[in-house]
Amino acid sequence: MISYSDSHDIDSKQLLALFEQADWAGGRSSHDIQRMLSETDVLISAWYGTKLVGIGRVLTDYVYRASIWDVIVDVNYQDQDIGKGLMQRILGHATLDQVELFWLCTRRYQGFYASLGFSDKEQTGMVWDRRKQPPLSSV
Ligand SMILES: CC(C)(COP(=O)(O)OP(=O)(O)OC[C@H]1O[C@@H](n2cnc3c(N)ncnc32)[C@H](O)[C@@H]1OP(=O)(O)O)[C@@H](O)C(=O)NCCC(=O)NCCS
Repeated sequence: MISYSDSHDIDSKQLLALFEQADWAGGRSSHDIQRMLSETDVLISAWYGTKLVGIGRVLTDYVYRASIWDVIVDVNYQDQDIGKGLMQRILGHATLDQVELFWLCTRRYQGFYASLGFSDKEQTGMVWDRRKQPPLSSV
């Protein structure tokens, strides 16, 4: 049976292993993940016993905007409604109940998010990737 938690106390090794499954999250370090966990506003994880099988996290001002990041379900546990369970717990989280607009990026899973009520008609995202920029001179 799958259980869900909103605790930020997650073993970074288990999280690292989950991130390694996604091309967009590979190569992250345990040190950076620890900092990411402590600075994330809302984090929902899914567990099969003591095994971490899914995660999703939110950065927000708690009123106007919230962005959803790093939604991932372990490949061996996909198609069992765990991704839906994570997203329902994010969108229904008590601390986010005033948030007007949730935003996320996805390359391949528009159908999954559309089934949860997300629309790709409203906005176009743009990205500034530090790894692809020339070094910034100090201002
Ligand atoms: C996207 C992801 C989180 C979905 O999690 P999941 O646990 O496999 O999905 P669920 O079983 O909860 O599916 C929920 C619903 O979405 C549907 N769905 C899932 N993937 C879908 C897709 N690619 N296209 C359309 N519908 C999809 C399911 O059929 C299900 O519909 P139902 O409720 O009518 O049965 C998971 O596939 C994943 O981790 N992918 C790799 C990581 C990744 O790239 N994430 C995207 C980051 S933006």
